[in-house]
Amino acid sequence: MKTTIAKIDKEMAWEIRHKVMWPDRNFDYIKLEDDDAGFHYGLFKGDLLVSVVSLFINQRGAQFRKFATLQQEQGMGHGSTLLSYVMKEAESLGAERVWCNARKNKVDFYKKFGLQETDIFFTKGGKSYVIMEKRI
Ligand SMILES: CC(C)(COP(=O)(O)OP(=O)(O)OC[C@H]1O[C@@H](n2cnc3c(N)ncnc32)[C@H](O)[C@@H]1OP(=O)(O)O)[C@@H](O)C(=O)NCCC(=O)NCCS
Repeated sequence: MKTTIAKIDKEMAWEIRHKVMWPDRNFDYIKLEDDDAGFHYGLFKGDLLVSVVSLFINQRGAQFRKFATLQQEQGMGHGSTLLSYVMKEAESLGAERVWCNARKNKVDFYKKFGLQETDIFFTKGGKSYVIMEKRI
């Protein structure tokens, strides 16, 4: 089926974030204070929103956050298609650095997009993260 990528409202991103990332927490847990200032992108399969990611631009570069694909749609390349698109968007918005707080089990995935591990690690909500970045 044909897939398309579009900017979406934050509310649409929230649905997938909650369903995929933190289904056991209350719905508000996945909302970010910065969501009003962010750019939210979604990949649609037909009319169905299957993958989302949000981009936040500041002086430290472009940070992507809350990247999630519906469980039954994972491993089909949707996340990769969306992430490649959003990294180009970050560049065209003038960012010189793209970065993320990567879940430790996603490090190899992000390396495929040219992101490299920094030496900044932390734990949040019982999960381990490392900051990864790419200079554009
Ligand atoms: C991270 C996440 C968004 C990736 O989305 P996705 O749509 O599954 O991404 P892709 O399908 O492009 O890639 C996933 C894997 O499938 C592989 N893949 C991509 N296309 C494929 C295809 N056509 N056939 C087989 N495998 C494929 C990719 O190489 C990748 O492998 P890897 O995990 O071993 O590196 C998704 O796994 C997810 O929502 N995870 C839970 C939330 C989360 O962890 N978010 C990230 C926080 S840092």
